[in-house]
Amino acid sequence: MAKLWSGRFSKEGSKLLDLFNASLPFDRKLYKEDIKGSVAHAKMLAKQGILSDDEAKSIQEGLEKIEKEIEEGKFIFDIGDEDIHMAIEKRLIELIGDTGKKLHTARSRNDQVALDFRLYVLRSDKEIVSKIEELIKVILDIAKEHTSTILPGMTHLQHAQPINFAYHMLAYTSMFKRDIERFESSYERNNYSPLGCAALAGTPHPVDREFVAKELGFEGVSVNCLDTVSDRDFALEILFNIATLMMHISRLSEELILWSSYEFGFVTLSDEYSTGSSIMPQKKNPDVPELLRGKTGRSYGNLISLLTVLKGLPLAYNKDMQEDKEGVFDSVETALISLEILKETLRTMRVNSDKMLKASKIGHLSATDLADYLVERGVPFREAHFITGKAVAKAEEEGVDLSELSLEKLKEIDDRIDEDVLSVLSLRNSMNARESEGGTGEESTKKQLEFFVNWLKKRGE
Ligand code: ARG
Repeated sequence: MAKLWSGRFSKEGSKLLDLFNASLPFDRKLYKEDIKGSVAHAKMLAKQGILSDDEAKSIQEGLEKIEKEIEEGKFIFDIGDEDIHMAIEKRLIELIGDTGKKLHTARSRNDQVALDFRLYVLRSDKEIVSKIEELIKVILDIAKEHTSTILPGMTHLQHAQPINFAYHMLAYTSMFKRDIERFESSYERNNYSPLGCAALAGTPHPVDREFVAKELGFEGVSVNCLDTVSDRDFALEILFNIATLMMHISRLSEELILWSSYEFGFVTLSDEYSTGSSIMPQKKNPDVPELLRGKTGRSYGNLISLLTVLKGLPLAYNKDMQEDKEGVFDSVETALISLEILKETLRTMRVNSDKMLKASKIGHLSATDLADYLVERGVPFREAHFITGKAVAKAEEEGVDLSELSLEKLKEIDDRIDEDVLSVLSLRNSMNARESEGGTGEESTKKQLEFFVNWLKKRGE
């Protein structure tokens, strides 16, 4: 069959053009959205008296047959058809004849692709959100077990103050919660139907865009058609949201890589989610978090790539915009599998509380507490800081942690220090001294945990 748009052409296009011009090899992923959109469009055309009921019915049956053919692998994808929209329309005409030629009334591929792609992105928003929820559930299960597990909290990757492991995991929960909120707000913003905008200027046919929007589950219809067929903000938003999500995943992955090293030993990744070395028999490698960290790169690339494609495009549709899809497909698929495997890696990993505690005893984590202790006894903070520095030097000299320095030695440094200092310097008391809202004290941590558990529960209702 000749190309559906070939009326004004006298020569066939070259095979090279077909190869270069086609989006079919990748936009075939949109077949479900395309068929759903066409069925809604045909129903609307019939409701408005543009098609007869019989014609709409025959179109719908034809489209359903095509969906089945695609699902059963029987559909022939011919690159000469250019894209999924033309491939399906051509097949429809083959199946039902002239009636099939009426489907494209009051429609253009410009609003059609805007619809299909938007439906895909909205569906992906939801799928990603539900995967993040599953991940958060696993993180909260870990947190529940570890509100009293002490580890060194760090800044500059240097031991800073004692915190608990639940508190650390709840920091990631906070990030993933914001991610969910970002995907959801993008969903709301973009949940408007483009169909009926046609090529760029609307259509002279008496279409009912609201009806189509309702059929497809949209909140409403877009306001300005020129914008609608030019707009790919919804695609940029999901790319940005995924890039940020992947950045969070990457930071957690980096910690898993560090923590599973011999030097830290804070966690042991399960054999199920670790790999071996082809030459060094003793090795167990954290390939999963490394790949998660690595894949973050492509999620940034996809975002920058589409921003660059769109920059400088005059209104309305330009073929450049066909470049919008592959990056989004890639980012969505990367995000979904990353969330799944991160969840499993966390669920199956062992937390080595003893190693965490041992590491907490290095680096004088309760030094700030000694300074605060002196301040409470009327010593100006600067002076207290200096005295504490001396105590730290003493501890280093003795080869012990500040929390283990004897009262005698502390008194030698400053005789305002009394016996009650010993409890202040203990790691657990140091951690639990920080019960300020959002702090690492065990009670405060439990409150945060409860906040996230309730938040997640409410979402499930
Ligand atoms: N395959 C095209 C794309 O993905 C569909 C829209 C084509 N529109 C057009 N006027 N050539 O962007």
